[in-house]
Amino acid sequence: MLDIQKLRLDFPILQTKIHGKDLVYFDSAATTQKPQVVIDSIVDYYTKYNSNIHRGIHSLSQLSTQLYEDARETVKQFINAEHNYEIVFTKGLTEAINLVAFSFGETFIKPNDEIIISAMEHHANIVPWQMLCERKQAILKIIPFDNDGVLDLDIYKNLITEKTKLVSVSYISNVLGTKNPIPEIIKFAHLHNVPVLIDGAQSVQHEKIDVQKLDCDFFTIAGHKAYGPNGTGVLYGKEKWLDKMVPYQGGGDMIKTVTLQKTEYNTLPFKFEAGTTDYVGAHALATAFKYIESIGAELIGNHEKQLLSLATEKLSKNEAVTIYGNAPQKSCVLSFLVKGAHPADVGMILDKQGFALRTGTHCAEPIMQYYNIPGTIRMSFGMYNTTDEVLACCEMIDRISKMFQ
Ligand code: ALA
Repeated sequence: MLDIQKLRLDFPILQTKIHGKDLVYFDSAATTQKPQVVIDSIVDYYTKYNSNIHRGIHSLSQLSTQLYEDARETVKQFINAEHNYEIVFTKGLTEAINLVAFSFGETFIKPNDEIIISAMEHHANIVPWQMLCERKQAILKIIPFDNDGVLDLDIYKNLITEKTKLVSVSYISNVLGTKNPIPEIIKFAHLHNVPVLIDGAQSVQHEKIDVQKLDCDFFTIAGHKAYGPNGTGVLYGKEKWLDKMVPYQGGGDMIKTVTLQKTEYNTLPFKFEAGTTDYVGAHALATAFKYIESIGAELIGNHEKQLLSLATEKLSKNEAVTIYGNAPQKSCVLSFLVKGAHPADVGMILDKQGFALRTGTHCAEPIMQYYNIPGTIRMSFGMYNTTDEVLACCEMIDRISKMFQ
């Protein structure tokens, strides 16, 4: 069992008052709050270690380089990658997906090739592929989902052809909470020699991820959604793909030699890390991953599932509430609407009582188009949420729903 009250003390922002009320933070899918160790790791770095990496013979630069490469090793172990050079630090999950869309696209995609995504993706896993398809005259194919928010795997299997070059799907939907059948999706794609990218925006913060066990070709992580600092992300890619892919951006550190006529690129992973990276962020992200491990990913996931079941049970009793996303395998988020009320109005009233819930389209407009709704109100859970918070929020939603009937 998690000792939630003890754990909450690690997150200083949870002591904040909003409109004079205790903050109840139910917006961890947008970004998680940061434990003190992560905040301290940033202050410590600038206080004691700051120096540019891979560029200095002097001691501080060597130390900073060591910390950066240690962070890479931590990430490698955290997701059980085979090699540390398969870990690329990026400035976020969006950049990680854009990197693959550009570099994989430039290397492997020809006109009329096909890329498959699902209809439940957030914009970060839609727009880069649309841009690639436009650039290369390739075709984007979509796996649909049903009313409960479950992907149609029969249609998926029929979408794959000899022209399919990549499948890119989310691990867990940030709107519907659906935990997609990733092993089955990957297995089927690999039967046809098609690589698979997993959008892990909702992943490592909720459960243990083992990229070798999943056998995914690419895995992307949003640092700020996994208790790490903003502006950090991770791209994991199998060596066999990263090695062949052209660089994403040019600049310092991604080169072996440069003449005015020609550049020879650096080895992995540096080929994909142009310029001075956010090495302080990488260190803080590694600190966040160690923090998750110290708490226990499985305990966190189980706790969040209990919160989700409780919130679902409570809100299901309210006839004025419609829940969007009822997949049997569900995790970490609960999207809903209150009859007669615009989601933004519900969100504003909740805010006045100290409850922070995201309202709107959650960077996933096609899901709203599918249900023909303006958006949803989304309760999303982190390790620090309590059952009392869930009960209080559901009670407040009941009161709000009465106001609109
Ligand atoms: N995609 C993020 C969310 O779900 C921003 O809120």
